[in-house]
Amino acid sequence: MKISYYGHACFSLAEQGVTLLFDPFLNNNPLSPVKAHQVKADYILVTHGHDDHLGDALEIAQRNKATIITTVEVAKHYQQGGVNFLPMNLGGGINLPFGRVKLTEATHGSGVPGGRACGFLLNFFGKIIYFAGDTGLFGDMRLLGELNKIDLAFLPIGDHFTMGIEDAVIATKFLETKKVIPMHYNTWPLITANPEDFQEQVQTKTDSQCLILAIGEELDI
Ligand code: NI
Ligand code: MN
Repeated sequence: MKISYYGHACFSLAEQGVTLLFDPFLNNNPLSPVKAHQVKADYILVTHGHDDHLGDALEIAQRNKATIITTVEVAKHYQQGGVNFLPMNLGGGINLPFGRVKLTEATHGSGVPGGRACGFLLNFFGKIIYFAGDTGLFGDMRLLGELNKIDLAFLPIGDHFTMGIEDAVIATKFLETKKVIPMHYNTWPLITANPEDFQEQVQTKTDSQCLILAIGEELDI
């Protein structure tokens, strides 16, 4: 599986010719190494409607004939011709050609009238992946860890709008994930965080391994 980091909370995961793209905030992110017209996707997973997550999803979906997987409220709000949505809701899952997607709780605003932000729990060709989206720490992350053998978790660490480092370390512990990748930090001064602090605490306080991806970096795992 190839992981690419495009800055903020935007990652792509590629395996066996299938590309998942998460929260594609590219054109308006000054730190992004690519623009919307340069990325490929089969499925675009959007956690909520805030600009820094929905981002360029509509344009990318249209050009790639990709499917946007998101909540019913975000799908309804942004529905337009030529864009294929798969509207879902929290706690629900669906089997897809690459495995499975389930929407999880996230304690965060939806960015559109009504609804909730979500996270994603995926089975991607046998790897169990948790993408938290924007969220604070919540106790049921423990349940996610108990019920799933999570291989890789993506967690926000930037504080202010989401968990900060301290809570993200506790989340890592709750999730019992093999690997964790920090996101949603240093895009703006308000969410300044040192990923190496997070890495060091994950190393000393949990059994997980923390991988820090530089913006633009690709990693095979
Ligand atoms: Ni947000
Ligand atoms: Mn955000």
